[in-house]
Amino acid sequence: MARRRSRCLERMVVLVQGVNVAVVGATGAVGQAMIATLVRRNFPWATLKLLASKRSVGKRVMVGEHSLTVEEATPEAFAGVDIALFSAGGDVSLKLAPEAVARGALVIDNSCAYRMHPDVPLVVPEVNGKDLFAHKGIIANPNCSTIQMVVALNPIYRKYGIKRIIVSTYQAASGAGSRAIDELRDGALAMLAGEEPRAEVLPVGKLARHYPLAFNILPQIDVFEENGYTKEEMKMVNETKKIFHDADISVTPTAARVPVVYGHSEAVYVETVKPFDLAELKAELRAGEGIVVKDDPALQEYPQPLEAAGQLEVFVGRIRKDLDDDRGLSLWVVADNILKGAAWNAVQIAERWIARDGAGR
Ligand code: A2P
Repeated sequence: MARRRSRCLERMVVLVQGVNVAVVGATGAVGQAMIATLVRRNFPWATLKLLASKRSVGKRVMVGEHSLTVEEATPEAFAGVDIALFSAGGDVSLKLAPEAVARGALVIDNSCAYRMHPDVPLVVPEVNGKDLFAHKGIIANPNCSTIQMVVALNPIYRKYGIKRIIVSTYQAASGAGSRAIDELRDGALAMLAGEEPRAEVLPVGKLARHYPLAFNILPQIDVFEENGYTKEEMKMVNETKKIFHDADISVTPTAARVPVVYGHSEAVYVETVKPFDLAELKAELRAGEGIVVKDDPALQEYPQPLEAAGQLEVFVGRIRKDLDDDRGLSLWVVADNILKGAAWNAVQIAERWIARDGAGR
């Protein structure tokens, strides 16, 4: 009772005073989207600190209608910060997240640095939102491809169980950062002008071997692992099991980069544990949190990245039963990889944390 009252009190303090927020990687593609999402959601911040590398110190970044100055992300910069949203790559998170936690901040980390750490909850609020309350200072945001897939599969998993997932991704350039977006745009212009496109960024691999993305598809996202899968693909395997708390789900992914700027698409094949009625399953999906079903073959309606860009939901369509297996299901899943796949999922975690427990200090 006393604990509940103190929580209520803390929450009131947060609502009145606001939360001190920092965005690490504020100049990057996801950092910018984090700032825009905080503004869009009317997030109750008292102060907002924009942090990036030394290179960006003094740069002005728009926050709604105002501009704020970027500061260097140093350990001392986290003094007084309640919630730090990190999206500056794994090395920066490994170095600075513990510093932020040591200074009392709750870190919501978009990098892959802590995702599989046993003490770090890996959270998609619609699926395993409760896990975030077990944090010890750091909460990890899953990989973008994993997030949209588990949101779409969550109602199916809860109702019928899932034995196996076979997924092919069609991932947008923005998932590889702002340099990849620039390279895609420049490459498309170069190709249309009959010139050789520049290829310096993609794929991100161990070798300095790059290919143009414009008018092309690259079946490599991140480095290759010993088993022939890429790191991105193995993230989908391991993170899906962790989020559902189910080590028995088998996941077979193929991740490809396509010349789309915003919005990942996924062709997902699922083998359920129990047989399902398709109409009932569609109703489950329609009622699913964070899902918009867009599925009308007669009207040629299905999710597309151009439409999903800028939206917070996960769009699901092309829902059909396997022709030979009454436990087999195919889906087409699309979401804005920068929003639901990164920035919005992180802000959503922050919102839930505040709603429950105050600023986390
Ligand atoms: P900066 O612009 O100063 O390099 P993206 O993935 O879109 O390229 O964005 C990466 C983000 O991570 C940028 O905001 C970038 O800042 C930031 N970043 C890169 N290296 C560091 C670092 N050593 N310390 C802090 N932020 C960094």
